[in-house]
Amino acid sequence: MRAGRRVGGEPFVCVRADGPYAYDPDGRRYVDYVMAYGPLLFGHTPPFLRDLDALAARGVVYGSTTPDEIALAERIRLHVPSMEKLRFTTTGSEAVQSAVRVARAFTGRDAVLKFSGNYHGHFDLALQDAGASAETPHAERSGIPRAVVADLAVARYNDLDDVDRHLARTRGRLAAILVEPVCGNMGLVQTQPGFLEGLRERADATGALLIFDEIITWLRLGLGGAQARIRVTPDLTTVGKIMGGGFPIAAFGGRADVMATLAPDGPCFTGGTHAGMPFAVAMALRVLDHLEREPQLYREMDRCARMLADGIRTTVRELGLGYAVVQTESIVDFKFRAGPPTRSYDDQRRDDQRAYAAFYHAMRARGVLLPPSHNEVMFLSTAHGDEDVAFTADAIDGALRELREKGTI
Ligand SMILES: Cc1ncc(COP(=O)(O)O)c(C=O)c1O
Repeated sequence: MRAGRRVGGEPFVCVRADGPYAYDPDGRRYVDYVMAYGPLLFGHTPPFLRDLDALAARGVVYGSTTPDEIALAERIRLHVPSMEKLRFTTTGSEAVQSAVRVARAFTGRDAVLKFSGNYHGHFDLALQDAGASAETPHAERSGIPRAVVADLAVARYNDLDDVDRHLARTRGRLAAILVEPVCGNMGLVQTQPGFLEGLRERADATGALLIFDEIITWLRLGLGGAQARIRVTPDLTTVGKIMGGGFPIAAFGGRADVMATLAPDGPCFTGGTHAGMPFAVAMALRVLDHLEREPQLYREMDRCARMLADGIRTTVRELGLGYAVVQTESIVDFKFRAGPPTRSYDDQRRDDQRAYAAFYHAMRARGVLLPPSHNEVMFLSTAHGDEDVAFTADAIDGALRELREKGTI
């Protein structure tokens, strides 16, 4: 992703950042919508990024449990009650990998059903047909063992008939259905009404566990994550990204009986030298303090994101492009394809990636930094204000008109 191959040209090099802005080595300022691919809900320099010396002076990693990690676990459970028990990891990849292992240990089964275009991290099983920047169409040439792929079913997102076709193959062997409840890794894709409910029913019917990967959505879509809005309860959930306020910490958790499979109570081992390190735990507590104290921040971000989406819609309409502009809370996205919003990776694969590459560079020339891949989305933060959004909407208007004049779109 950082090499920027999907859009070509020189990769963006960042030398410093503050608030909603990133700066290149020439000191040029960009309004940043990459936001480190999601964690920076408060921009680059959050208000709680202070007194770090005092935090560090307590020691940053102990190798033993701490009162703070228990307090953090309880705070998370308060907001996401389905995480009856949870365990910390350092990265989102580890959290999902661990959740899958627990599901396998609990069910005594191997097979996993996931969805094309969803991204769950960089471990073997997750990479097959993944979205985001994963480019692993051929498992055997990508270092993914054939045996791993043999236990995997990859279904079309938002398509319960396709799920059923795969379930027929994995009968009696399915340990887990793994899904992003709102997908942010093939652009922003909402689930169709009934899709997640359908997965819940199928998990119950087959004895498999339902795992929601909320690494992007928890805290992005509110303190309760996607599951609070959708009102479907998973057996296991993974969270990460925003929770550390920019520092690496993630977690997985869920039903107490399932989590009891974990060592030391049960036979399933997970671990990590830096997992739940006190420094990152302290930052996570600050993140929750801030969001609990300032609930209006979500309304503010939603308002700004709406303003941006409306601005893009106006240009798209004026140019007769027919692109669908989508927005959920602080996520904004549109693709270079006329017609309804993306429902699955099949739609996403029909985007005009060449147009996105030209758009990316036209925006960079105008002082706006977008992710260098059409699979990603624009993330706003509490640091993005009306002026930044108005500037960005103007830049998008100019960039799309330039592309139209050049015949790119
Ligand atoms: C939904 C989802 N799950 C898991 C991950 C992996 O998290 P990490 O990059 O922290 O390993 C990502 C990362 O982008 C993600 O978007």
